Amino acid sequence: MRHLMSPLDFSVEELEKLMNLAGDIEANPEKYAHVCAGKKLATLFYEPSTRTRLSHEAAMLNLGGSVLGFSSADSSSAAKGESVADTIRTISCYADICAMRHPKEGAALVASTHSGIPVINAGDGGHQHPTQTLTDMLTIRSLKGRLDNMTIGLCGDLKFGRTVHSLIHALVRYPNVRFVLISPEELKIPSYIRTDVLDRQNIEYEEVVRLEDALPKLDILYMTRVQKERFFNEEDYVRMKDFYILDSKKMELASDDMYVLHPLPRVNEIAVEVDKDPRAAYFKQAQYGVYIRMALIMTLLNIEA
Ligand code: NCD
Repeated sequence: MRHLMSPLDFSVEELEKLMNLAGDIEANPEKYAHVCAGKKLATLFYEPSTRTRLSHEAAMLNLGGSVLGFSSADSSSAAKGESVADTIRTISCYADICAMRHPKEGAALVASTHSGIPVINAGDGGHQHPTQTLTDMLTIRSLKGRLDNMTIGLCGDLKFGRTVHSLIHALVRYPNVRFVLISPEELKIPSYIRTDVLDRQNIEYEEVVRLEDALPKLDILYMTRVQKERFFNEEDYVRMKDFYILDSKKMELASDDMYVLHPLPRVNEIAVEVDKDPRAAYFKQAQYGVYIRMALIMTLLNIEA
């Protein structure tokens, strides 16, 4: 039995297969409409979500399966003090696969060690968010035709943003990928990623504060929200929250084929006027999230079309 805790759980070859399957699903949805008939996906969400939970559910429904779950800790027995280990043992009796989001780093990993069914980490605190990374990779590959030879700007809350952490882990495995890490001093990438991932693997990167300085050299700009819920005090959040606002004027500094991605939800960091720019790819990205999760569910359940 296989789980998905981190993007590194799949080899580059397996990721390629997964993205190819997602591409075939996009092209031939009817071929996959019943492959998960009789299978159930449980979504165990202890933290707010729109896209991640509903795209997992849409993915399973598109495959002909069904879904059950809870969308807040308050409405589950966690509110009564039940452990993740006991919850997952129980859910293993009800469903064939599950996606779990939890505010604590490592919660999905704990669940996987007690689970009788595959567990998908749908975000564990400020740590990892592998299905978002699969989504981001499929989006980049579809828009640019490649994942190698690329300069990627990661902008915003690089400290607490789990999507950024997972994306770096995944992309350093492709040749000639460079990063421009754009953040205020207080929200810089954690040293366990700078040192253990980027430095150790001799990945080219620079850290800058001004978005304007980075924009002209990027192939992809990955914007992120300042992660309010991970701050220790409101004052720091208020000071940081509008540090970056990408608007049409700043987009003029970027090349014609620099796409803007964002895992969403957006707060203020991308002005709504940017949505009509053909380089704004964040809603397309949400659509790719369904195809890749369909491919992931099939793969973890060992189902072929
Ligand atoms: C992200 C998350 O939950 O980490 N959202 C998502 O899953 N698409 C990013 C965020 O909340 O800012």
